[in-house]
Amino acid sequence: VKTDFRSDNILGCSPEIAEALLRACQEPASPYGNDPVTSRLHQRCRDLFETDVAIFPVSTGTAGNALAIAAMTPAWGGVFCHEDAHVHREELGAAEFFTGGAKLVPLPGVNGKLIPGALAASIEDVARGGRMAIPSCVSVTQATEAGTVYSAEELREISEIARRSGAGMQMDGARFANAVAATGRSPADLTWRAGVDVLVFGATKNGALAAELIVVFRTELADELGLRWHRGGQRLSKMRFLSAQLDAYLTDDLWLRNARRANGAAARIAAAIATIAGVEIVRPVDANVLFVRLDPAIERTLRERGFLFYDWSLFGEGIVRMVTGFDTTAADADALVEAIRVASLQPR
Ligand SMILES: Cc1ncc(COP(=O)(O)O)c(C=O)c1O
Repeated sequence: VKTDFRSDNILGCSPEIAEALLRACQEPASPYGNDPVTSRLHQRCRDLFETDVAIFPVSTGTAGNALAIAAMTPAWGGVFCHEDAHVHREELGAAEFFTGGAKLVPLPGVNGKLIPGALAASIEDVARGGRMAIPSCVSVTQATEAGTVYSAEELREISEIARRSGAGMQMDGARFANAVAATGRSPADLTWRAGVDVLVFGATKNGALAAELIVVFRTELADELGLRWHRGGQRLSKMRFLSAQLDAYLTDDLWLRNARRANGAAARIAAAIATIAGVEIVRPVDANVLFVRLDPAIERTLRERGFLFYDWSLFGEGIVRMVTGFDTTAADADALVEAIRVASLQPR
Protein backbone atom coordinates (compact mmCIF):
# COMPACT_ATOMS: atom_id res chain seq x y z
CA VAL A 1 0.00 0.00 0.00
CA LYS A 2 1.01 3.60 -0.56
CA THR A 3 2.18 5.78 2.28
CA ASP A 4 3.02 8.96 0.36
CA PHE A 5 0.22 11.52 0.62
CA ARG A 6 2.35 14.64 0.06
CA SER A 7 0.89 15.78 -3.24
CA ASP A 8 -0.74 14.68 -6.45
CA ASN A 9 2.41 15.56 -8.35
CA ILE A 10 4.39 12.79 -6.64
CA LEU A 11 2.31 10.31 -8.65
CA GLY A 12 3.40 8.49 -11.76
CA CYS A 13 1.54 8.57 -15.01
CA SER A 14 -1.64 6.84 -16.20
CA PRO A 15 -0.76 3.86 -18.43
CA GLU A 16 -3.11 5.18 -21.14
CA ILE A 17 -1.05 8.38 -21.30
CA ALA A 18 2.29 6.56 -21.34
CA GLU A 19 0.99 4.34 -24.16
CA ALA A 20 -0.18 7.38 -26.14
CA LEU A 21 3.29 8.88 -25.81
CA LEU A 22 4.87 5.67 -27.04
CA ARG A 23 2.54 5.69 -30.04
CA ALA A 24 3.46 9.31 -30.77
CA CYS A 25 7.12 8.26 -30.76
CA GLN A 26 6.61 5.87 -33.67
CA GLU A 27 5.85 8.44 -36.38
CA PRO A 28 7.35 11.68 -37.62
CA ALA A 29 4.92 14.61 -37.59
CA SER A 30 4.84 18.30 -38.41
CA PRO A 31 6.24 20.56 -35.69
CA TYR A 32 4.82 23.42 -33.58
CA GLY A 33 1.32 21.99 -33.22
CA ASN A 34 0.60 21.44 -36.91
CA ASP A 35 0.14 17.73 -36.34
CA PRO A 36 -2.86 15.36 -36.32
CA VAL A 37 -2.75 14.68 -32.57
CA THR A 38 -2.99 18.38 -31.75
CA SER A 39 -5.87 18.76 -34.24
CA ARG A 40 -7.68 15.85 -32.62
CA LEU A 41 -7.12 17.35 -29.18
CA HIS A 42 -8.58 20.64 -30.38
CA GLN A 43 -11.73 18.87 -31.62
CA ARG A 44 -12.04 16.92 -28.38
CA CYS A 45 -11.94 20.21 -26.47
CA ARG A 46 -14.68 21.72 -28.63
CA ASP A 47 -16.81 18.65 -27.95
CA LEU A 48 -16.04 18.51 -24.24
CA PHE A 49 -16.73 22.20 -23.63
CA GLU A 50 -19.66 22.31 -26.08
CA THR A 51 -18.36 25.47 -27.77
CA ASP A 52 -15.59 26.77 -29.97
CA VAL A 53 -12.32 27.20 -28.08
CA ALA A 54 -8.69 27.98 -28.80
CA ILE A 55 -6.14 25.74 -27.09
CA PHE A 56 -2.49 26.16 -26.08
CA PRO A 57 -0.69 23.20 -24.51
CA VAL A 58 1.93 24.22 -21.93
CA SER A 59 4.45 22.39 -19.80
CA THR A 60 3.61 23.87 -16.38
CA GLY A 61 0.69 25.36 -14.54
CA THR A 62 2.76 28.43 -13.72
CA ALA A 63 3.28 29.15 -17.43
CA GLY A 64 -0.40 28.52 -18.14
CA ASN A 65 -1.59 30.85 -15.39
CA ALA A 66 0.85 33.62 -16.24
CA LEU A 67 0.08 33.54 -19.97
CA ALA A 68 -3.68 33.32 -19.44
CA ILE A 69 -3.67 36.25 -17.02
CA ALA A 70 -1.38 38.28 -19.28
CA ALA A 71 -3.75 37.83 -22.22
CA MET A 72 -6.39 39.94 -20.43
CA THR A 73 -4.22 42.18 -18.26
CA PRO A 74 -2.09 45.17 -19.32
CA ALA A 75 1.00 46.21 -17.36
CA TRP A 76 -1.14 48.70 -15.42
CA GLY A 77 -3.85 46.12 -14.72
CA GLY A 78 -5.05 44.75 -11.40
CA VAL A 79 -5.49 40.98 -10.89
CA PHE A 80 -7.74 40.01 -7.98
CA CYS A 81 -7.22 36.63 -6.37
CA HIS A 82 -7.50 34.78 -3.06
CA GLU A 83 -4.57 35.45 -0.72
CA ASP A 84 -3.67 31.74 -0.77
CA ALA A 85 -3.87 31.50 -4.57
CA HIS A 86 -1.06 29.59 -6.24
CA VAL A 87 -0.56 32.53 -8.63
CA HIS A 88 0.09 34.79 -5.66
CA ARG A 89 1.94 32.52 -3.26
CA GLU A 90 3.81 29.96 -5.32
CA GLU A 91 4.71 31.30 -8.75
CA LEU A 92 7.47 33.79 -7.91
CA GLY A 93 5.72 36.69 -9.58
CA ALA A 94 5.27 34.94 -12.95
CA ALA A 95 1.92 36.68 -13.56
CA GLU A 96 3.47 40.06 -12.73
CA PHE A 97 6.41 39.26 -15.02
CA PHE A 98 4.38 38.06 -18.01
CA THR A 99 2.01 41.02 -17.77
CA GLY A 100 4.96 43.40 -17.63
CA GLY A 101 4.26 44.46 -14.08
CA ALA A 102 0.53 44.20 -13.33
CA LYS A 103 -0.54 44.34 -9.68
CA LEU A 104 -1.85 41.25 -7.93
CA VAL A 105 -4.45 42.16 -5.33
CA PRO A 106 -4.71 39.26 -2.85
CA LEU A 107 -7.96 39.04 -0.90
CA PRO A 108 -9.04 37.12 2.18
CA GLY A 109 -11.65 34.45 1.64
CA VAL A 110 -13.46 31.58 3.25
CA ASN A 111 -12.22 28.02 2.78
CA GLY A 112 -10.08 29.08 -0.16
CA LYS A 113 -12.89 30.84 -2.01
CA LEU A 114 -13.23 34.52 -2.82
CA ILE A 115 -16.05 36.30 -1.00
CA PRO A 116 -18.22 38.12 -3.60
CA GLY A 117 -18.91 41.19 -1.41
CA ALA A 118 -15.24 41.62 -0.48
CA LEU A 119 -14.18 41.16 -4.10
CA ALA A 120 -16.68 43.76 -5.30
CA ALA A 121 -15.56 46.23 -2.60
CA SER A 122 -11.89 45.75 -3.46
CA ILE A 123 -12.46 46.16 -7.21
CA GLU A 124 -14.50 49.29 -6.53
CA ASP A 125 -11.80 50.68 -4.28
CA VAL A 126 -9.06 50.07 -6.85
CA ALA A 127 -11.19 51.39 -9.73
CA ARG A 128 -12.28 54.53 -7.86
CA GLY A 129 -8.80 55.99 -7.43
CA GLY A 130 -7.67 54.98 -10.91
CA ARG A 131 -4.08 55.29 -9.71
CA MET A 132 -3.44 51.90 -8.10
CA ALA A 133 -4.31 49.71 -11.08
CA ILE A 134 -7.07 49.20 -13.63
CA PRO A 135 -9.18 46.14 -12.70
CA SER A 136 -8.43 43.65 -15.48
CA CYS A 137 -8.69 40.09 -14.22
CA VAL A 138 -10.19 37.98 -11.46
CA SER A 139 -8.28 34.75 -10.97
CA VAL A 140 -9.99 31.83 -9.25
CA THR A 141 -8.61 28.39 -8.46
CA GLN A 142 -10.86 25.38 -9.07
CA ALA A 143 -10.59 23.18 -7.00
CA THR A 144 -9.19 25.72 -4.52
CA GLU A 145 -5.94 25.60 -2.61
CA ALA A 146 -8.06 24.70 0.44
CA GLY A 147 -9.44 21.60 -1.26
CA THR A 148 -12.88 23.11 -1.73
CA VAL A 149 -14.86 23.48 -4.94
CA TYR A 150 -16.77 26.49 -6.28
CA SER A 151 -20.29 25.74 -7.48
CA ALA A 152 -21.31 26.99 -10.94
CA GLU A 153 -23.52 29.57 -9.22
CA GLU A 154 -20.68 30.85 -7.05
CA LEU A 155 -18.50 31.24 -10.13
CA ARG A 156 -21.26 33.06 -11.97
CA GLU A 157 -21.62 35.54 -9.11
CA ILE A 158 -17.88 36.25 -9.15
CA SER A 159 -17.70 36.61 -12.92
CA GLU A 160 -20.59 39.07 -12.90
CA ILE A 161 -18.68 41.24 -10.43
CA ALA A 162 -15.60 41.02 -12.65
CA ARG A 163 -17.61 41.81 -15.78
CA ARG A 164 -19.25 44.88 -14.24
CA SER A 165 -15.82 46.42 -13.74
CA GLY A 166 -14.60 45.45 -17.21
CA ALA A 167 -12.32 42.71 -15.89
CA GLY A 168 -12.08 39.19 -17.30
CA MET A 169 -11.96 35.90 -15.41
CA GLN A 170 -9.17 33.36 -15.45
CA MET A 171 -9.42 29.95 -13.81
CA ASP A 172 -6.41 28.05 -12.43
CA GLY A 173 -7.73 24.55 -13.01
CA ALA A 174 -4.74 22.57 -11.77
CA ARG A 175 -7.44 20.36 -10.20
CA PHE A 176 -10.30 21.22 -12.55
CA ALA A 177 -11.03 17.53 -13.13
CA ASN A 178 -11.52 17.02 -9.40
CA ALA A 179 -13.95 19.95 -9.37
CA VAL A 180 -16.00 18.52 -12.23
CA ALA A 181 -16.05 15.13 -10.51
CA ALA A 182 -17.08 16.75 -7.22
CA THR A 183 -19.94 18.83 -8.58
CA GLY A 184 -21.25 16.52 -11.27
CA ARG A 185 -21.66 19.65 -13.44
CA SER A 186 -20.44 19.78 -17.02
CA PRO A 187 -17.09 21.36 -17.94
CA ALA A 188 -19.10 24.03 -19.82
CA ASP A 189 -21.23 24.82 -16.75
CA LEU A 190 -18.13 25.29 -14.60
CA THR A 191 -16.34 27.52 -17.11
CA TRP A 192 -17.72 29.70 -19.91
CA ARG A 193 -21.36 29.33 -18.92
CA ALA A 194 -20.33 30.67 -15.51
CA GLY A 195 -18.37 33.52 -17.10
CA VAL A 196 -14.83 32.08 -17.23
CA ASP A 197 -12.82 33.51 -20.14
CA VAL A 198 -9.72 31.33 -19.93
CA LEU A 199 -9.17 28.02 -18.13
CA VAL A 200 -5.83 26.42 -17.38
CA PHE A 201 -6.90 22.79 -17.46
CA GLY A 202 -4.57 20.71 -15.31
CA ALA A 203 -3.46 17.23 -16.30
CA THR A 204 -0.08 16.78 -14.60
CA LYS A 205 -1.59 16.20 -11.16
CA ASN A 206 -4.21 13.83 -12.47
CA GLY A 207 -2.39 11.27 -14.60
CA ALA A 208 -0.29 13.08 -17.20
CA LEU A 209 3.49 13.09 -17.26
CA ALA A 210 3.78 16.86 -17.64
CA ALA A 211 1.12 18.73 -19.58
CA GLU A 212 -1.45 21.45 -18.95
CA LEU A 213 -3.80 23.05 -21.40
CA ILE A 214 -4.84 26.68 -21.77
CA VAL A 215 -8.44 26.68 -23.02
CA VAL A 216 -9.67 30.03 -24.32
CA PHE A 217 -13.43 30.62 -24.40
CA ARG A 218 -13.31 34.34 -25.19
CA THR A 219 -11.75 33.65 -28.57
CA GLU A 220 -10.82 37.28 -29.28
CA LEU A 221 -8.05 36.70 -26.69
CA ALA A 222 -6.61 33.83 -28.72
CA ASP A 223 -4.39 35.73 -31.17
CA GLU A 224 -2.57 37.64 -28.48
CA LEU A 225 -2.32 34.58 -26.28
CA GLY A 226 -0.79 32.66 -29.18
CA LEU A 227 1.93 35.28 -29.58
CA ARG A 228 2.64 35.36 -25.86
CA TRP A 229 2.71 31.55 -25.74
CA HIS A 230 5.31 31.42 -28.52
CA ARG A 231 7.39 34.27 -27.11
CA GLY A 232 7.14 32.74 -23.63
CA GLY A 233 8.90 29.63 -24.88
CA GLN A 234 5.88 27.37 -24.49
CA ARG A 235 5.29 26.61 -28.17
CA LEU A 236 7.12 23.30 -28.20
CA SER A 237 8.54 22.25 -31.56
CA LYS A 238 7.51 18.67 -30.72
CA MET A 239 4.18 19.83 -29.35
CA ARG A 240 2.60 16.53 -30.29
CA PHE A 241 4.13 15.02 -27.15
CA LEU A 242 2.19 17.43 -24.95
CA SER A 243 -0.88 16.98 -27.14
CA ALA A 244 -0.61 13.18 -27.02
CA GLN A 245 -0.77 13.29 -23.24
CA LEU A 246 -3.75 15.64 -23.26
CA ASP A 247 -5.52 13.75 -26.03
CA ALA A 248 -5.25 10.50 -24.07
CA TYR A 249 -6.32 12.36 -20.93
CA LEU A 250 -9.57 13.39 -22.63
CA THR A 251 -10.17 10.01 -24.29
CA ASP A 252 -12.86 7.79 -22.76
CA ASP A 253 -13.17 10.20 -19.81
CA LEU A 254 -9.79 9.21 -18.37
CA TRP A 255 -9.49 12.67 -16.76
CA LEU A 256 -12.84 12.24 -15.02
CA ARG A 257 -12.33 8.63 -14.01
CA ASN A 258 -8.95 9.52 -12.49
CA ALA A 259 -10.41 12.47 -10.59
CA ARG A 260 -13.35 10.41 -9.31
CA ARG A 261 -10.95 7.85 -7.92
CA ALA A 262 -8.85 10.52 -6.20
CA ASN A 263 -11.91 12.27 -4.77
CA GLY A 264 -13.43 8.97 -3.70
CA ALA A 265 -10.30 8.03 -1.75
CA ALA A 266 -10.25 11.42 -0.01
CA ALA A 267 -13.93 11.15 0.92
CA ARG A 268 -13.35 7.64 2.25
CA ILE A 269 -10.50 8.82 4.45
CA ALA A 270 -12.43 11.89 5.63
CA ALA A 271 -15.50 9.88 6.59
CA ALA A 272 -13.45 7.36 8.53
CA ILE A 273 -11.17 9.73 10.46
CA ALA A 274 -13.77 12.39 11.30
CA THR A 275 -14.66 10.76 14.61
CA ILE A 276 -11.18 9.70 15.73
CA ALA A 277 -9.98 11.44 18.90
CA GLY A 278 -7.04 13.78 18.26
CA VAL A 279 -8.04 14.33 14.64
CA GLU A 280 -9.87 17.37 13.32
CA ILE A 281 -10.72 17.94 9.67
CA VAL A 282 -10.38 21.71 9.26
CA ARG A 283 -11.59 22.34 5.68
CA PRO A 284 -14.50 20.77 3.82
CA VAL A 285 -13.16 17.84 1.80
CA ASP A 286 -14.80 18.54 -1.57
CA ALA A 287 -12.09 17.11 -3.81
CA ASN A 288 -8.87 15.14 -3.25
CA VAL A 289 -7.10 17.24 -0.62
CA LEU A 290 -7.55 16.92 3.14
CA PHE A 291 -6.45 19.45 5.74
CA VAL A 292 -6.28 17.83 9.14
CA ARG A 293 -5.18 18.98 12.58
CA LEU A 294 -3.43 16.03 14.17
CA ASP A 295 -2.54 15.58 17.79
CA PRO A 296 1.31 15.83 17.78
CA ALA A 297 1.67 12.25 19.09
CA ILE A 298 -0.49 10.92 16.24
CA GLU A 299 1.52 12.88 13.69
CA ARG A 300 4.79 11.60 15.13
CA THR A 301 3.62 7.98 15.07
CA LEU A 302 2.40 8.27 11.48
CA ARG A 303 5.71 9.74 10.38
CA GLU A 304 7.62 7.02 12.25
CA ARG A 305 5.57 4.46 10.37
CA GLY A 306 6.68 6.00 7.09
CA PHE A 307 3.62 8.03 6.15
CA LEU A 308 4.47 11.19 4.24
CA PHE A 309 2.41 14.40 4.14
CA TYR A 310 3.20 18.09 4.20
CA ASP A 311 3.04 20.34 7.21
CA TRP A 312 0.45 23.06 6.46
CA SER A 313 0.87 25.44 9.37
CA LEU A 314 -0.17 28.21 6.97
CA PHE A 315 -3.68 27.11 7.98
CA GLY A 316 -2.89 26.88 11.71
CA GLU A 317 -0.72 25.04 14.19
CA GLY A 318 -0.61 21.28 13.90
CA ILE A 319 -2.35 21.19 10.51
CA VAL A 320 -1.12 18.85 7.80
CA ARG A 321 -2.20 18.35 4.20
CA MET A 322 -2.90 14.91 2.78
CA VAL A 323 -3.54 14.46 -0.93
CA THR A 324 -4.98 11.44 -2.70
CA GLY A 325 -4.45 10.69 -6.37
CA PHE A 326 -5.75 8.83 -9.39
CA ASP A 327 -3.96 5.70 -8.24
CA THR A 328 -4.99 5.77 -4.56
CA THR A 329 -6.95 2.59 -3.93
CA ALA A 330 -9.54 1.90 -1.25
CA ALA A 331 -6.92 -0.33 0.39
CA ASP A 332 -4.42 2.57 0.46
CA ALA A 333 -7.06 4.83 2.00
CA ASP A 334 -8.01 2.21 4.58
CA ALA A 335 -4.38 1.60 5.53
CA LEU A 336 -3.92 5.30 6.28
CA VAL A 337 -7.14 5.38 8.30
CA GLU A 338 -6.08 2.30 10.26
CA ALA A 339 -2.67 3.82 11.00
CA ILE A 340 -4.35 6.99 12.30
CA ARG A 341 -6.75 4.94 14.40
CA VAL A 342 -3.95 2.86 15.94
CA ALA A 343 -1.86 5.98 16.58
CA SER A 344 -4.79 7.66 18.32
CA LEU A 345 -5.16 4.73 20.73
CA GLN A 346 -1.62 5.05 22.02
CA PRO A 347 -1.23 6.80 25.37
CA ARG A 348 -0.42 10.48 24.83
C1 LIG B 1 -3.46 25.41 -7.50
C2 LIG B 1 -2.28 25.14 -8.37
N1 LIG B 1 -2.12 25.84 -9.49
C3 LIG B 1 -1.11 25.59 -10.33
C4 LIG B 1 -0.18 24.60 -10.07
C5 LIG B 1 0.83 24.31 -11.13
O1 LIG B 1 2.12 24.49 -10.79
P1 LIG B 1 3.36 24.07 -11.67
O2 LIG B 1 3.88 25.33 -12.30
O3 LIG B 1 4.31 23.49 -10.68
O4 LIG B 1 2.95 23.08 -12.72
C6 LIG B 1 -0.26 23.89 -8.88
C7 LIG B 1 0.76 22.88 -8.52
O5 LIG B 1 1.10 22.69 -7.40
C8 LIG B 1 -1.35 24.16 -8.01
O6 LIG B 1 -1.51 23.47 -6.87
